[in-house]
Amino acid sequence: MSKTLITYFSQTGNTKAVAEAIFDALEGDKDIKPMEESLSLDEVGLVFIGFPVQSHSVPYKADTFLRRVPAGKRIALFCTHGSLPGHRLSREALEYALVCAAKAKLLGTFACRGKLSMKALEFLSRSPEHQEWTDMAASAATHPDDKDLAEATAFARKIWTTHAHGAY
Ligand SMILES: Cc1cc2nc3c(=O)[nH]c(=O)nc-3n(C[C@H](O)[C@H](O)[C@H](O)COP(=O)(O)O)c2cc1C
Repeated sequence: MSKTLITYFSQTGNTKAVAEAIFDALEGDKDIKPMEESLSLDEVGLVFIGFPVQSHSVPYKADTFLRRVPAGKRIALFCTHGSLPGHRLSREALEYALVCAAKAKLLGTFACRGKLSMKALEFLSRSPEHQEWTDMAASAATHPDDKDLAEATAFARKIWTTHAHGAY
């Protein structure tokens, strides 16, 4: 079976923690690398791609990476976000990520909350464009927590099973 890659962009460590939980959950030939490293997907059968929601969308680095995923490559997307679970903001960011990697084969998505420092929250809430989510983000202070990481583990195993058995 071909290699599985987990790649992520993470500014403050939340998405990295989720990426590591996904990595630990997987069997077989696997690798975990930050998106900053120049990554070849040639030998990779399945790639988990993670990013934080930023300004209602996908950070530039992740956007660029997603756009160069080859057609037909199997991907699973994950993100962390400050807004409440299931909120339009994280859903829309994942939908946008999928548009960027439109030719890839999506096996599934995962999202959980990720904390910001109070200082960052205070700073961002001063700008109108961020107000919608900064009002919700204070309650993300303990995330990603053990439950989030357990859910990321379950997500990774489900995707792996789908990939291994070709049931998609
Ligand atoms: C500049 C900036 C913009 C952000 N924009 C959003 C946003 O639009 N919606 C949201 O839910 N969270 C937003 N967040 C919160 C992050 O998505 C969240 O804290 C995430 O877990 C950070 O992940 P990281 O530690 O991997 O960088 C923003 C954070 C920063 C610093």
